Amino acid sequence: MFETTVTSPEQTMALGQALAPALQPRDVILLDGDLGAGKTTFTKGLALGLGIKRNVKSPTFTIIREYQSGRIPLYHMDVYRLEDGSGDELGLDEYFNGDGVNVIEWSKFIADELPAQYLRIIFKRDDAAGENQRKLTFEPVGARFEKLVQQLEDSQK
Ligand SMILES: Nc1ncnc2c1ncn2[C@@H]1O[C@H](COP(=O)(O)OP(=O)(O)OP(=O)(O)O)[C@@H](O)[C@H]1O
Ligand SMILES: [Mg+2]
Repeated sequence: MFETTVTSPEQTMALGQALAPALQPRDVILLDGDLGAGKTTFTKGLALGLGIKRNVKSPTFTIIREYQSGRIPLYHMDVYRLEDGSGDELGLDEYFNGDGVNVIEWSKFIADELPAQYLRIIFKRDDAAGENQRKLTFEPVGARFEKLVQQLEDSQK
């Protein structure tokens, strides 16, 4: 586990950008935490790090947005508005076994569909500490993501 505090959207993006070079097809990154905590902002940085030039917009209403112009495809999902139990209709398995990296906001709504290994990042606001302050907690599940988080932590020292 790795915990870090940031004080600007740019710092949150920089963390996403730092993670991107290590990502490979079929990786699953879960972004959880409060509304407006910075999950989409983090994804914008991650996309930059993959070399995606298109502006990353929140997929809240479309559920999934696909970006093909980077080093590997990015599948950005926001499952907040998914109807109960309709996760299987999204064809998540095809994405998870596909050719790109999967980034999923609000993963608790597809808790039954998660793969065996993933990286969960929990975003927490701390309004008492300042309106731009966020705590990011990286919780890897599986050896690959443990190593990846260790590398990210080392790169931030
Ligand atoms: N340190 C920070 N990190 C990220 N965003 C920040 C930070 N400080 C302020 N912000 C602002 O907070 C907002 C975060 O919005 P964002 O869409 O990234 O959140 P979200 O977690 O994706 O929300 P939602 O759950 O609605 O999808 C942006 O307006 C951003 O500018
Ligand atoms: Mg969002």
